[in-house]
Amino acid sequence: MAEIGKDILKAKIYLDRGEVVAIPTETVYGLAGNATNPDAVAQIFKVKNRPHFDPLILHTHNLAAVQHLLQEIPEKAYKLSQKFWPGPVTILLEKKTLLPDLITAGMNRVAVRVPNHPLSFELLRKLDYPLVAPSANPFGYISPTSAKHVEDQLGNQIKYILDGGTCNIGIESTIVGWEGDKSIIYRLGGVTKEALEDILGPIELLPHSSSNPKAPGMLKSHYAPRKKIILGNLDELIEEYKDKKLGIIAFKETILAKADIKQVILAPDGEMETAAKNLFSSLRALDEENVDIILAEEVPSHGLGRAINDRLRRAAAPR
Ligand code: TXA
Ligand code: MG
Repeated sequence: MAEIGKDILKAKIYLDRGEVVAIPTETVYGLAGNATNPDAVAQIFKVKNRPHFDPLILHTHNLAAVQHLLQEIPEKAYKLSQKFWPGPVTILLEKKTLLPDLITAGMNRVAVRVPNHPLSFELLRKLDYPLVAPSANPFGYISPTSAKHVEDQLGNQIKYILDGGTCNIGIESTIVGWEGDKSIIYRLGGVTKEALEDILGPIELLPHSSSNPKAPGMLKSHYAPRKKIILGNLDELIEEYKDKKLGIIAFKETILAKADIKQVILAPDGEMETAAKNLFSSLRALDEENVDIILAEEVPSHGLGRAINDRLRRAAAPR
């Protein structure tokens, strides 16, 4: 089983050797490896059982540290990095050929981000190479927001989990890039569309695709629990599925308590940040309960609510 601890130097020793280590970020836990070591990168795909068409995000402590791997960085990217890094936005940038092809799945752009977590930030500062780190879950399953989540699923495949507590944001980073002059969000996440538009002006939201994923985090069915999840009006759904053992995910209000319904309230305080932080752990918890089916309602569609609904819809998408 993986050792769980807060020892940055130990994590560094494993990473220097080309092994993979789970690391905390403000969004979700990542499964990290040396981006410049093709064996380490290959190991990440293997542990996650991730298809090779799905590229990885490069993690660094600052843009200057990866500049030699990138073509000219556009002014807009500098602006975003100054405003949001360290923080939950990932920027797609034209790469040089120095990076292992596996990282970008053969595409011209590499995704780059500076995570906002003191342990991983310090670790990145101590390394002489950037890390690639997808979310530390088996491909297609819910992303982990605690060391325990990582241990439950990948604990017997990795040696070390750097324990940074529960992730503050709880959903993955927002992925942004440019096609010509157009700014595009490829994945909604921890930084809202509105906050990005303050800096970039109008941004297009790329529709999800299940067939030709430009960012496979955009696959329609993703972030999915093993149990069937159905989205809609909770009162109606509870009536419709009254013969089943139900798990329920509500936004802020308790649904009329019935003895045999397991219920989770995402945000008793009504705050979107709270709902985001609790979303993945709630899905996991209900997935492990003795229920047949998980019923959930969407949250109001503004701010982080858009990203939360995006994850709920994909968790509910037919597989
Ligand atoms: O918050 C996060 O971004 C977390 C933490 C660990 O940093 N990481 C994460 O990685 O969510 P992952 O691999 O689970 O999701 C990354 C998404 C994938 O859907 C991938 O397709 C997309 O980023 N992506 C990566 N590189 C890309 C590229 N060059 N072009 C388009 N999409 C890319
Ligand atoms: Mg992921």
